[in-house]
Amino acid sequence: MVELGVELAGIRLRNPTILASGILGVTPATLKRAAKGGAGAVTMKSLGPEPRQGHPNPTVLEWECGLINAVGLSNPGVEAGAKEVAEAVKKVKAPVIASFFAKDAAEFGVVAGRLAAAKPAMLEANLSCPNTIREMGIPFAYEPEHAAEAVKAAKERAGDIPLIAKLSPNTHRLKEVAKAVEAAGAGAINMGNTLGPGMLIDVDARKPILANKAGGVSGPAIRPVAVRCVWDVYESVKIPIIGTGGVGSGRDALEMIMAGATAVGVGSAVASGGFKVFGKIAKEMEEWMAKNGVSSVRELVGVAHK
Ligand SMILES: Cc1cc2nc3c(=O)[nH]c(=O)nc-3n(C[C@H](O)[C@H](O)[C@H](O)COP(=O)(O)O)c2cc1C
Repeated sequence: MVELGVELAGIRLRNPTILASGILGVTPATLKRAAKGGAGAVTMKSLGPEPRQGHPNPTVLEWECGLINAVGLSNPGVEAGAKEVAEAVKKVKAPVIASFFAKDAAEFGVVAGRLAAAKPAMLEANLSCPNTIREMGIPFAYEPEHAAEAVKAAKERAGDIPLIAKLSPNTHRLKEVAKAVEAAGAGAINMGNTLGPGMLIDVDARKPILANKAGGVSGPAIRPVAVRCVWDVYESVKIPIIGTGGVGSGRDALEMIMAGATAVGVGSAVASGGFKVFGKIAKEMEEWMAKNGVSSVRELVGVAHK
């Protein structure tokens, strides 16, 4: 018998696949479909303190090796969003992770408190969106001190709900950042957000394709970077890691797990493969494990380091 279930900061997942934040918005109906498609947990789109329109269209573009996006954290704001969280918790048959962002540490605390009241299984502090740098300064996840401040403030208001810190591949201080968020009280790390920003130019129009010009790169193109980041974080902390970036198959998921992840985030692959991608990844993992005499995912976490 192969055991696909894993535990993440005390929360039990039936398999290691997690819908990544932002891909499917915040509506409970879409999250329900991801759970039906086999997701072990679902993450809602990041909510901020106030409603935000985000960037003008086009905001998301599919290219040969994944997606590039500059959605710009469009969201209905935490007041309306918290109601969606509460509804999703009731309706979705998988743990619901509520993602959030803010412009400073104090605001991280306020938003975390408001969302904690809606009782999601976990909270995820998005410290790492590369698309709003101009408005909000350098992302928190680039510097250990900034990341720790935000996590500490959120943790103080999160009550007993475990807090995930979502980090960025775009920092040369990753190991220090990982250690800092662990020390500040994060129960898990999501490694991580999109790479970049990047840019694609329409040669015929002689202009960048995204209205925002630049955007975060995701999908297969970033998988090797994400795997290396998971590797570095695993060497730095004891808390569990969600490996996110380019996962679309069972082998991709196993690669992340062998680098040190306990669970995997799946974003862009849902855009290309639909909701059933979660069940597909889990089944492919199960088949590989059965064939290779591995009875539990736990046995594989970080094996590539040995
Ligand atoms: C269209 C789009 C919107 C996203 N919105 C968010 C968001 O609101 N919050 C967040 O933390 N990450 C957001 N992300 C990043 C993803 O959650 C994920 O970290 C990233 O896409 C890498 O994973 P992937 O290669 O599996 O897509 C977004 C990604 C895409 C493509």
